[in-house]
Amino acid sequence: MRTIRDVEIKNKRVFLRTDYNVPFDKGSILDNSRIRASIPTIEHLIEHQNKIIIGTHLGRPIGKRSESSSTVPLAQELARLLKRRVYATELLYGHEVEKTIAQMKPGEILMLGNLRWNLGEERNDSHFAKALAALTEVYVNDAFAVSHRAAASIVKIAECLPSYAGLLLVKEVNNLGPLLEQPGKPVVLIIGGLKVKDKAGVIKNLAPKVDKILLGGVVANTFLCAQGQNIGDSIYDHEMVSACKVMLKHYRSQLVLPIDAVRSHKPRGGFMIYDIGPKTQALFASEIEKAKTIFWNGNLGYTEDKRYRAGTAAVADAVSENKGTKIVAGGDTVGFINDHGLGENFTFLSTGGGASLEFLAGGEMPGLKVLS
Ligand code: 3PG
Repeated sequence: MRTIRDVEIKNKRVFLRTDYNVPFDKGSILDNSRIRASIPTIEHLIEHQNKIIIGTHLGRPIGKRSESSSTVPLAQELARLLKRRVYATELLYGHEVEKTIAQMKPGEILMLGNLRWNLGEERNDSHFAKALAALTEVYVNDAFAVSHRAAASIVKIAECLPSYAGLLLVKEVNNLGPLLEQPGKPVVLIIGGLKVKDKAGVIKNLAPKVDKILLGGVVANTFLCAQGQNIGDSIYDHEMVSACKVMLKHYRSQLVLPIDAVRSHKPRGGFMIYDIGPKTQALFASEIEKAKTIFWNGNLGYTEDKRYRAGTAAVADAVSENKGTKIVAGGDTVGFINDHGLGENFTFLSTGGGASLEFLAGGEMPGLKVLS
């Protein structure tokens, strides 16, 4: 992979793709780790008198502009962290943006609107990529966390400009790369969160390489449903149930499913699962205690509501106490760990969620491939 340290990028207009898809609560950033993690690359580009044009996505607005997916709060947070001005626009390309860039001085920063406001982003559309590329002379990818997606600002744009990996991207690859090469055994994966489709695919690839996979969140609900258990009105991914059935058949001894739950009760005997229960916490803790290598992505309950944080907190404590290699990955889970003041106890906090899993599973990483 060509990196920004391999060449001298000086006095250029640089398109810097970051992943500032950070967790928000009522308009405030809950955890700024992904923004902080991009600062070494930004400082390197500033030192070399480049104009930096930052592109990021936030959420999944799928072609629709909205206030809640605006990048302006991200620009403000970056300005606060860097202690320097960051210009922000709600636009993505075109004459107005070009004018702003022309007026910027070397070392100044402009944050574009949310890349996913344009449908071309997800479609890896070459017209959209060309319009973005036309703003700049060099492309830098520091968005490891979304490099498992073939998006226009990740793949197509890199085909239009001289392209390099940023320092965060390199750090992620260097830390995650060796993890499963010759890991200390047993290896325990902890997988929770919402994105069942992404995660179920990698579980299939990772199961043969690891000893136990502890499941929580909506991922676990989908497996429980596949097992024929009553999950009431809990959120699960209907489309993934049959894939989960197949995995249960092949990898039953590795998969550890919740054995109790914290539920919210609904009228007429209905319920929803919102967290793992105390027996599951103890079961997971006993597996975590034995592990020599732990990789964790995804919270185990609906941690946005403090009534449902106990399961994730118990697992965070158990992992913190383990003396082996421990990596936690993904915006929400890293945010949770930082919020509980446990970040120091981990070997590495990865900014990638689905991307880190995909990378570990040896899956396709279009954003890395195009740089190599
Ligand atoms: C993430 O938060 O995992 C990345 O930003 C990718 O987001 P996505 O799953 O919406 O593509």
